[in-house]
Amino acid sequence: MSVRLSTDVLIIGSGAAGLTAALSLPSHMKVLVMCKGKLGTGSTAWAQGGVAGVLDEVDSVDQHVEDTLQAGAGLCDPAAVRYTIERSTSAIHWLIEQGVPFTRVDGSEVKYHLTREGGHSQRRVIHAADATGLAISETLIQKVRQAPNIHILENHVAIDLITTDKINSDEEQNRCVGAYVLDTIKDEPVTIGSRFTLLASGGASKVYLYTSNPDGATGDGIAMAWRAGCRVANMEFNQFHPTCLFHPKAKSFLISEAVRGEGGLLKLPNGERFAHKFDERGELAPRDIVARAIDHEMKRLGADNLYLDISHKSPDFIKTHFPTIYQRCLEYGFDMTKEPLPVVPAAHYTCGGIRINQQGATDLPGLFAAGECTYTGLHGANRLASNSLLECIVYAQAAAEHIAQSDMKQYNPEKLPLWDDSQVADSDEKVVISHNWDELRRFMWDYVGIVRTDKRLERAKRRVQMLKQEISEYYTNFRISADLLELRNLVVVAELIIESALSRKESRGLHFTRSYTQCRDKVEITVLSPKQNQTERRQGHRPT
Ligand code: FAD
Ligand code: SIN
Repeated sequence: MSVRLSTDVLIIGSGAAGLTAALSLPSHMKVLVMCKGKLGTGSTAWAQGGVAGVLDEVDSVDQHVEDTLQAGAGLCDPAAVRYTIERSTSAIHWLIEQGVPFTRVDGSEVKYHLTREGGHSQRRVIHAADATGLAISETLIQKVRQAPNIHILENHVAIDLITTDKINSDEEQNRCVGAYVLDTIKDEPVTIGSRFTLLASGGASKVYLYTSNPDGATGDGIAMAWRAGCRVANMEFNQFHPTCLFHPKAKSFLISEAVRGEGGLLKLPNGERFAHKFDERGELAPRDIVARAIDHEMKRLGADNLYLDISHKSPDFIKTHFPTIYQRCLEYGFDMTKEPLPVVPAAHYTCGGIRINQQGATDLPGLFAAGECTYTGLHGANRLASNSLLECIVYAQAAAEHIAQSDMKQYNPEKLPLWDDSQVADSDEKVVISHNWDELRRFMWDYVGIVRTDKRLERAKRRVQMLKQEISEYYTNFRISADLLELRNLVVVAELIIESALSRKESRGLHFTRSYTQCRDKVEITVLSPKQNQTERRQGHRPT
């Protein structure tokens, strides 16, 4: 059986971006928020450090702008940076109004504690101890549940966007009119018609073998937008967080940069400090520099991990500032009040994504996007710590405001062809999916990681093309599952990363290649357009 739904606004994703957009839309609009698992299962709920913004009298928009541009290694869009940071104070006040319980300065009723992270010249990161994302997620979820115009669809995976071109409608201009979705509980396809669709589907760091991200960070929105004809930008800039806990069971649990912000020191196995040899800012240099320094030292020494040590601070200070991290490390057998923590870098953040403008609009009419799945120009070649949640809020609000002012007639959902799987069979070889998942993530880690070369990238390109072909055949012939859909998206994202990396003949920010170790004078973002790739564009739906 195939179900049909319709709504004014379909929001794909329930992280900071999706929930903020839902809550910022006018109450007369019918809003449908859908997500893969339960509400709150994306990266947002895992965010630790906090939200960066201009909140202290000693700080200024100019300084925050300058730090962001510096971290972005010359590739930020200065207008986008200013636009975002000028809205940082109001974005954070909006979160406070929603009820997010940010940590206050000891004994103060009004003053919030601001922490510091790499690349920031000021303390400007507002936080809820070391579980900021959870506090934001829980607060916004509660609000969304109370809003009568917002409907929630959990355990639904978007398969592809529906465009008027794809369904051969007689509309003059191609536009997005909804999405095909898989209900993963009933294992049943759903066809959703919408006047506006907003992708808030998060990043793609799961494309790498080791990542700080939750399982669902498979770049679905980026791949869906690409297949629907939208351009993507700067996909080669994948941020590796320098300090994830090294433990076989910890799944790259993040040790917040705030630990270094509050005095944590990076050490070699012999206890020696090394960060200042790579940058005068030492432990508080921007992330690309610190991650590369750790990678360099690990390879030089043949070490499995290095160490992060904050045990010189009082146990009380550590437990108050980092209660979650302290507890989790203890569960894995490490007492950070007494000993250094073993750490390694892991894939953390997708700086590139779907190209959007300051209203959150993509290239495709009717389709908006916000959050980690987008490229706005804020991050350039390397994201400044804690600027991501800020970007989620600012662009989700902008998109909601623009949608509220737009006039787009309802496309009759009855005209949408239902998902048709009458021609496909049940798979008898699910091992193909799990094998390809592993293979893809491993070669991306080995060949397209922290240090790249043209040779490695070419090697990865050959492999990704083979996998893409195999996955496409599998998708055409067999009934879909959530794993298959994610794999199909991951392979698209991997190819976009490799293509972008190959086209950048320099080292800049997070893209470091031994084939071209210098920065070029000419500063350009990388934009890929699906218009030059009609085959890919045409794949990805099964019209009736
Ligand atoms: P997410 O919060 O990732 O949400 C994505 C949503 O999309 C989920 O609901 C998911 O189910 C849904 N989705 C995805 N694909 C589909 C599909 N096909 N169909 C249906 N639904 C789909 N940033 C900061 O600024 N400060 C921090 O302190 C910070 N700490 C971090 C710590 C960790 C461990 C991690 C992983 C990230 C951290 N970041 C931090 C980055 C930041 O958390 C993310 O960039 C941000 O939360 C992304 O929010 P989002 O709304 O774009 O996506
Ligand atoms: C952290 O707490 O180190 C993560 C901050 C971020 O990714 O912005």
